[in-house]
Formats: sequence, C-alpha cells, structure tokens
Amino acid sequence: MKNEVLHYLNIHMEGVIVDGTLGDGGHTEFILKNTGPKIRVLGIDRDLSAVDRAKERLRPFKHRTKLVHGSLENLQDLAGQSGVTKINGLLLDFGVSSPQLDTPERGFSIRNDGPLDMRMDSSQTTTAANLLEKLKDAELISIIKNFGEERFAKKIVRAIRREQEKKPVITTSHLSNIISGVVRSPKYSRIHPATKTFQALRIAVNNELEQIKVVLNDAINLLDASARIVAISFHSLEDRLVKTFFRQEEKGCTCPPKTPICICGNKRTLKILTRRPIYPSEEEVALNPRSVSAKLRVAERVYV
Ligand SMILES: C[S@@+](CC[C@H](N)C(=O)[O-])C[C@H]1O[C@@H](n2cnc3c(N)ncnc32)[C@H](O)[C@@H]1O
Repeated sequence: MKNEVLHYLNIHMEGVIVDGTLGDGGHTEFILKNTGPKIRVLGIDRDLSAVDRAKERLRPFKHRTKLVHGSLENLQDLAGQSGVTKINGLLLDFGVSSPQLDTPERGFSIRNDGPLDMRMDSSQTTTAANLLEKLKDAELISIIKNFGEERFAKKIVRAIRREQEKKPVITTSHLSNIISGVVRSPKYSRIHPATKTFQALRIAVNNELEQIKVVLNDAINLLDASARIVAISFHSLEDRLVKTFFRQEEKGCTCPPKTPICICGNKRTLKILTRRPIYPSEEEVALNPRSVSAKLRVAERVYV
C-alpha cells in the first residue's frame, strides 16, 4: 500500500516523517524517492537485523535518514535523542515482517520448523517457549483466547500440558502438531489450526497491543498541526485499538452525553480522514498475498 501511504501522509516541502515500523525500509525508500531533499525520515524498528538491512537499502539516502533500533513505546525518547521535537507524519505498519516470518530460526512460522522464539527484538529475554513453560494454565488460556480470539483455548492448553509431561515444547513444529491434533480447521479452509495460537503467543511475547496504545498516545504530543498518522493493521485487535483511539481523540470530550457544559476539559486532537479502512487493491494482494488482511486508517492532528 505504498502509494496509499504516500498519498495519505500528504508530505510537504520539508519536515520529519517517522517510520515507526521500519522493517527492511520499503515504505521509507518509497517516501524518500518521491519527496524533496528537505524531507527526512526517522526510522525505528525493534528488530536489529531489520535496521541493519534497512541501512544497507537506504544507503543512497543516508543524509536524509536516521535509523535506530528501538521500540514504539519509546517513541518520544527516540525522537528526542535524534533531536526531533515535532514530526510531520507517522507511519505505523504493524505486525511481523516477511523476513521474520520466512526465517525459521526466528520462530514465527507455523509451517517451517524452528525454535519457539517469536521475539521481534532478539535482545529481549522472554520467548514463546518460556511463556509455555512459565505461565499458569489460566494465564495461557487467557492469552490464547484474548490475543488469538481462539475459542478452543482450553482444549489447546490441556493438550500442551499433556505433551509437556513427556517433553518440553520448544519448537514451532512440535506446538503446531499438538494443536493440529486437537483442533481442526473449518472444511475447505487453508488456514492452519495453529494460526490463532501462534498469533496470540507472538502478541504476548512482544507486548504488541500495549506498544500500540503507548505509541498512539505519545504521537499526539509529537505531531505538528495537520501532520497525519497512517496506521496499517493486520488483525482485528490491532485495528480495533487504532479505530477506537482515533474516534476518542476526534471526539475529545469524554463527559456523559447529557452534561450541559464540558467538565472533563479534554480537547479534540485528531480528525479522522478514513471513515472506513482502506484495503489493498486486488493487484497488490495478487503480488503479495500476505497483504490480504491489511487495513489502513488515517487521522490528522488538529489543534483546537
Ligand atoms: C510489517 S513490518 C514493516 C515493513 C516495512 N513497512 C517495510 O516496508 O519493509 C513490521 C515491522 O515492525 C516492527 N515492529 C513491530 N512492532 C514494533 C514495535 N512495537 N516497535 C518497533 N518496531 C516494531 C517489526 O520488527 C517489523 O520489522
């Protein structure tokens, strides 16, 4: 959705755009190629190997980029350390990248065997295998149910526990086989029965939803007037957070509907530019099937 991102960022002659989920730098490269020399990008990713690859790819734009290893929850600090006090656009392309999914050693893939890792930031200590090992049954059920929207969470945890009595569950294929043994995909579905559990563990390992809440809140202080947040979500939990946040910030006041005058003092900070999400075109999905679940939402900073 590179064209859509560029269009909605509505970039002017000069300023700083933050690409908060830099990945391999594909979006940033497109932005830099299609904007003037006074547009700079601060690129952030919690995956050090992604930052390294992006540095290589964006070498021709070295003088217009600052690429840092860090998490979205630290956006304000990372911006401050880079000398950025106001930003003119924020791109958030949530989720995992293709290199993360396609590298079995990273442990995100259901179909290719690897260690049950799932850390986007490999310097972090807790892996998915650690969660299976350490969490109580109720905690694990709650994660699989809430972050995976998986109705068979209890059944899955019981099966994991039975297996753990025999040997530790520390590989992706071991976990996906356990799940395939107790949950079936709907007839004719090509979705693997372990998909929801893998999503849930990934979200938990990387504390993804909390990071989204923090970065959206912090962005409000950083965005200059008329600067936009362009957010691309890949599942309903991410999209719901973005949608709810945008709506709340557009509304501003949180007083009960019948209150005669506002007493909360909350001001409107965003104007929503996409009442409905934007979806990738059929051509894009044909070229990149993983984009099929992408939803793009945009809001503009207003100061009232
Ligand atoms: C879908 S990919 C982005 C791809 C990128 N837009 C491109 O064009 O190559 C998502 C990236 O965001 C990173 N990421 C996800 N959550 C993050 C967070 N909370 N803080 C920093 N990076 C994050 C992941 O490590 C991954 O590299």
